[in-house]
Amino acid sequence: MNNRILVVDDDQAFRIATVALLEDNGFTVSVATDGAEAQKRISETEFDLVLSDLVMEGMNGIELLQRIKAISSEVPVIMITGFGSINTAVEAMRLGAYDYITKPCDNDELLIKIRRVLEERRKDRELYRLREEITTQYSFGNIVSRSESMKKIFKLVRQVSETDVTVLILGETGTGKELLAKAIHYNSPRKEKPLVVITCSALSETLLESELFGHEKGAFTGAQKQRTGKFEDANGGTVFLDEIGDVPLHLQTKLLRVLQEKEIERVGGNRPIPVDVRIIAATNRNLQDLMKAGSFREDLYYRLNVFPISLPTLRERIEDIPLLVEHFLQKYAALSNGRVKRAAPTAIAMMVSTTWRGNIRELENVIKRAIIKTDGDTIHSIDLPAQPLGDVRPFALKTSDNGEIRFKEYIKKITYDAESKYLVEMLERHQGNIKAVAELMEVDRKTIYRKIEEFGIDISKYRNSGQSS
Ligand SMILES: Nc1ncnc2c1ncn2[C@@H]1O[C@H](COP(=O)(O)OP(=O)(O)OP(=O)(O)O)[C@@H](O)[C@H]1O
Ligand SMILES: [Mg+2]
Repeated sequence: MNNRILVVDDDQAFRIATVALLEDNGFTVSVATDGAEAQKRISETEFDLVLSDLVMEGMNGIELLQRIKAISSEVPVIMITGFGSINTAVEAMRLGAYDYITKPCDNDELLIKIRRVLEERRKDRELYRLREEITTQYSFGNIVSRSESMKKIFKLVRQVSETDVTVLILGETGTGKELLAKAIHYNSPRKEKPLVVITCSALSETLLESELFGHEKGAFTGAQKQRTGKFEDANGGTVFLDEIGDVPLHLQTKLLRVLQEKEIERVGGNRPIPVDVRIIAATNRNLQDLMKAGSFREDLYYRLNVFPISLPTLRERIEDIPLLVEHFLQKYAALSNGRVKRAAPTAIAMMVSTTWRGNIRELENVIKRAIIKTDGDTIHSIDLPAQPLGDVRPFALKTSDNGEIRFKEYIKKITYDAESKYLVEMLERHQGNIKAVAELMEVDRKTIYRKIEEFGIDISKYRNSGQSS
């Protein structure tokens, strides 16, 4: 969203010129011709910045400033002072104005001051948000778990948090790698300093480099200004290199250098800049495989692998499922205005026997959707999605000549999907025991064999060795 600026001045020529300038630079501008009008606007709308004349008829700028601070203490005010009223400007600063500028204003100077104020305000807010996050979410106590494997991890993490040791977090998608990285940072002595997250897979190669290390003006086409990179931004704090397995080789070399030398070089720059950062890296990929394939540097791996932590999959800690369900029911209570309070034992049982390839994130999404779907106060198994189809052959919907789908065809597809899901689920639960599944489906064994054939299910997948039907 554009930043909203309120311009207050009784000088019409100045108002018109300033509004034009600000609008040309992408700001949303409102105007007020005197203090009273300004006060009214501020109580109606939230502004990101007020630009006010100091000397006005009626309510003067100082008075207005005091009222603004009373209504909305956060909104920054820049005072415009006429020649010779510097002393009053200083007084304004003392009363809480962010800055002042003398009339006649230099356009560039005005824009620079405005941008600086807005940027500072953004940072303040960010800091505030992060502080909130610390207290509400990322203490270890809030990483929900009761499993032995996680308990061991918590113990390790507590020790390592207090140090500057590089941590490598490994684990399948959705196992909580990012949550853990945040927990480590916010439990470390660096917690008051920034945690900068870099998602290595999300950026193109050239962008990634300047994103990480910054660039000098003119380093490449489009680099019109000098810019600091994330490593510099994180100075004193922590850099979280998420999806480290996706960093292109030539950047791996540069990363290695940062880890070894604790200094960076901006793109197009020629002097090393020292940085003090703690590194946490994470990946869901198998780095050993990547090394064998030649797409991950071995020396970088050893630099990162100082303190590896492998997060268990949800399948390996199903005892956490009831606890996590409870946690997510509370977290998303607002979705049903607090109506949905619990999950039925049968629903929990179903969740415990689900494979959860997407791990905790998948469970979280399932609970979120179930809360929305459920009518009463309890989630039942019917509110949960059936198991993913796995290797079942998809049913192709036939359409008529004009592309329409017949109702009967549609029903056939739904029946097919439901039946195949059920069959797969039961085969999984009963390790491919046809007799047991036939009894559950109330058909004979021949029918089950026919359906297995029809759905293209690979029955051997569900059978442990030595078991027969
Ligand atoms: N132990 C836990 N307790 C509560 N919530 C958790 C726990 N672990 C993970 N979550 C939640 O599950 C979701 C996924 O976690 P996170 O983003 O940390 O996973 P990830 O391992 O980084 O996944 P990916 O590899 O896909 O990036 C988040 O919403 C997170 O809050
Ligand atoms: Mg992640």
